[in-house]
Amino acid sequence: MNKLEIFKKITARSLIAVLIVDEIEEAVDAANALLKGGVSVIELALRTSVAFEAIRAVIDNCPDMLVGAGTVLQPGQVENAVKAGAHFALSPGINKDVIREAADIKLPFVPGISTPSELQQAIDLDCRQVKLFPAEPLGGLPYLMGLASPYKHLQVKYIPLGGVNISNMGDYLSYPDVMAVGGSWLTPKGVIKEGAWEKVTDMAKISIKMIGMQVN
Ligand code: 3PG
Repeated sequence: MNKLEIFKKITARSLIAVLIVDEIEEAVDAANALLKGGVSVIELALRTSVAFEAIRAVIDNCPDMLVGAGTVLQPGQVENAVKAGAHFALSPGINKDVIREAADIKLPFVPGISTPSELQQAIDLDCRQVKLFPAEPLGGLPYLMGLASPYKHLQVKYIPLGGVNISNMGDYLSYPDVMAVGGSWLTPKGVIKEGAWEKVTDMAKISIKMIGMQVN
């Protein structure tokens, strides 16, 4: 899939579950539970030692899941994400070497930004899809609308993450320049640890229903 197709899919699917796992099996079980509830995009964060293997396991076992590698902080992680099969990658902040590496290797990349200056850096590096992070502490939708205003003519699209949850996701998604929202409310750490997969499915179903989408 090329960059355009990946970003189209993320936009159509609207919700991204942020997943942090200590065991490879947790990633596959969580991905299956999310799919059952209609959520089919994950950001699997590179914050644990099993993260790359967990990405590979989800890619191999859950063909309907769109998998992003998250917390990509160094250029070397870009190649490993591609080797693991990731469809796209994100980072909480912006690093030009990481973005250039991703562009070279053709991995769709969504850098994190939180200010106009960072957004301009992203635009200069040819990124039009950005992660607004941490969205809620920054000021939520009013902040995003203020930030986005001078760049509207450049067709920048935003993925707010950080403090997004079931009660505020709808507000973000009602803003036309928001392509998707994401967060750990769909896959909280405690629920993963418990292995309470039916809770993951239920939360996914409720979230999907609330944004007016169908669970297939
Ligand atoms: C991320 O990496 O995007 C964040 O950890 C998600 O933030 P949240 O836990 O507040 O949803």
